[in-house]
Parts: sequence; C-alpha cells; structure tokens
Amino acid sequence: MKVGALISGRGTNLQALIDAADDPLYPAEIAVVISNRPGAKGLERAEAAGIPAITIDHKQFETREDFEAEVQTALEAHGVELITTPGFMRILTNSFIAKWPGRIVNIHPSLLPSFPGIRVHEQALEAGVKISGCTVHFTVPEVDAGPIIGQAAVPVHDDDTPDTLAARILKAEHKLLPLCIRLIAEGRVHIENGRTLVEARPGEFEGISLAL
Ligand code: GAR
Repeated sequence: MKVGALISGRGTNLQALIDAADDPLYPAEIAVVISNRPGAKGLERAEAAGIPAITIDHKQFETREDFEAEVQTALEAHGVELITTPGFMRILTNSFIAKWPGRIVNIHPSLLPSFPGIRVHEQALEAGVKISGCTVHFTVPEVDAGPIIGQAAVPVHDDDTPDTLAARILKAEHKLLPLCIRLIAEGRVHIENGRTLVEARPGEFEGISLAL
C-alpha cells in the first residue's frame, strides 16, 4: 500500500515507518513525504531513505483550500492510497478529509478522547493522570477524534515534566504507528458505526504499552 506522509517537523514517527518499511514483508511503503514547513527535519529523513520529499509551505497560499489542492496533486502524482499525518500541525478541511474517507491516519500523544488539541502533556500532568499514552486513529472533521485503530499505555511518573512524559510516550508511538499502518494495509481494520473492528492476532499489541 502506498502511503503519503504529511509532516511539519522532526519526523521521528516518519522514521519509524521508514524503518518498518525496510522489511520486505512490511505491507506498506512511504511513497512521498510532504512538509508544510520548509526545512523540517523529517524531509532529510525522507531524502536519506530515497523517498520523494516535498515542501508545500502553507504560508505561500491564500487559503487552506489552495494549500490542500497542492497537497492533493502531489499525493495523486505519487499514487498515494493512504495518508498518515504524524506530527502534521495543520488542521485539514472537511472537504479534504471527505476526499479520503477512512484513509487518513493520525497519531496523537494521549489516550483519546482524553487531552485532545495542543499542550497535550501539560494537560495530562495538570489532570494528574497516572497513565497516559498514545492513540492512532482515522481522521474525521472533528480534531483528534475519529475511529480509534490502536492505543498504547504509558505510566506517568510523579516527577514527570511535559518533556520527560513526551519522550516516554514517543517510544510507544514509534511502535504503535507502524503496527496500525500494517493492520490497515493488510485489510484487518474495518470501520463500523464510528468505531473500528481490528483483526489483531493474539499478542500483536504486546510490548508496545510500557510496564505500568
Ligand atoms: C508526536 O508526539 C505526535 O504524536 C505529536 O507530535 C509529535 C511529532 O513527533 N502529534 C500531535 O501532538 C498532534 N496533535 P515526530 O515529528 O517526531 O513524529
């Protein structure tokens, strides 16, 4: 399955996908990486892996629609079948999302529906939760909502700062996203009534959540 990655920054989740796709048995490949920010580190990661890396700077466009039209053209030019948006910090319009129903996969560093939006780790620490984690979900017009494909749990320590918690969760993200993309590419994820049915094999999600 040809995957198009939309990114904005350092792209460590993108790297996890690139590394997973190195395995010839992995059922997806990154066909193109598009950053809305010039100079994003993730673009270098793509280039180093021989993947087309494109900058489409949203600031160069008058409207979101114009920006997205350019993104759409690039995705189509590379035969993209599934989009993933790890660390992509632009909200997509309803009309763009409607073009890709059940075919945009986002990762968010909390156990949704808790702590959507920004300042995610600050929100978790302020709430005093003892467990946080990450969520991979299909994108719908509502931000950080949409059918959940997979989640991983990570402990919150008493002395955590947003940065230490983010770093712990990121380790789980790097395993969860490649697994969820694999499940989709293998046709094992079905959306029904706003939820997913996932044909996971026993133990397939084991070892992604951290010891609590
Ligand atoms: C990741 O932690 C991802 O979950 C988060 O941004 C980081 C991107 O890191 N996404 C969001 O907060 C979206 N709401 P990366 O560029 O190294 O993959």
